[in-house]
Amino acid sequence: MPAGHASDPQELSADTPAKMHDAEAAAGRSGSDAPAGGGPIVETKDLRKCFGKNEILKGIDFEVLPGEVVSVIGASGSGKSTFLRCINLLEWPTSGQVLYHGQNVLEAGYDVNRYRIHLGMVFQQFNLFNNLNVLQNCVIGQVRAAGVSKAEAKDRAVEYLSKVGMEPYVEAKPRQLSGGQKQRVAIARALSMQPEALLFDEPTSALDPEMVGEVLSVIGELAESGLTMVIVTHEMAFARDVSDRVVFVDDGVIAEQGPPAELFENPQLPRTREFLTRFHAG
Ligand SMILES: Nc1ncnc2c1ncn2[C@@H]1O[C@H](COP(=O)(O)OP(=O)(O)OP(=O)(O)O)[C@@H](O)[C@H]1O
Ligand SMILES: [Mg+2]
Repeated sequence: MPAGHASDPQELSADTPAKMHDAEAAAGRSGSDAPAGGGPIVETKDLRKCFGKNEILKGIDFEVLPGEVVSVIGASGSGKSTFLRCINLLEWPTSGQVLYHGQNVLEAGYDVNRYRIHLGMVFQQFNLFNNLNVLQNCVIGQVRAAGVSKAEAKDRAVEYLSKVGMEPYVEAKPRQLSGGQKQRVAIARALSMQPEALLFDEPTSALDPEMVGEVLSVIGELAESGLTMVIVTHEMAFARDVSDRVVFVDDGVIAEQGPPAELFENPQLPRTREFLTRFHAG
């Protein structure tokens, strides 16, 4: 079925995704067209990003393997969000490579829209469409960006909303939900696209303290289910519990990384120790 632009519902306002995918390109669903093999899903090589004269990312070499949960920690302003946004090309890197199953997605002619479908993103501020209800929020991307039929998209949306405990709220508008509920909807929306990996940018930082737990427990369940995830977080105890690897970003580079027990118990660099001490003290 074509991803008919003409049949787009009227109520979808300017804050809905503008650039939609054609049906042909979307026909291969995420995951199904991913090359087999045990290599990294995504890899960056000497990734650099400048804003004007400021070099924010100063050569990041990174990879995430299938099923891996990687937490990214570091001080405010160190470049964590910029790094995630360069991975899924919300920001275009200044130089270096972003490889998806070994292919450089920055090369001319690469189908960037299709690449983005493979990587879900969950934002600090939820980024739900306020004019759409919960179900519509979880359906629209599937139909318009990935070419899924409306019926299937609804089934998937309900399935993932159930998973995060938000199925009773399918008719609700975002303004009727708490922050924790909005974030759980945002997670269900990302999962509905059946991405190969999910990127989280401080998913609990905008929440009232009593709602942090419900969102972290959903993310923890996803980690246990084997979903590949990269999580920027300031929740150190959580990072320690769920991660296979923790990456410490400092001033635009990966200063140190390792299994959580090693990085948290026995950081090698003074800079890492300082950061962790400040955190424990705070
Ligand atoms: N679009 C932009 N234009 C100019 N400068 C930017 C832009 N986005 C980020 N920066 C700058 O890049 C630096 C790193 O920002 P970034 O948001 O990646 O840090 P962060 O590690 O995510 O911090 P936080 O923990 O506070 O979220 C900051 O100095 C920021 O001001
Ligand atoms: Mg940030």
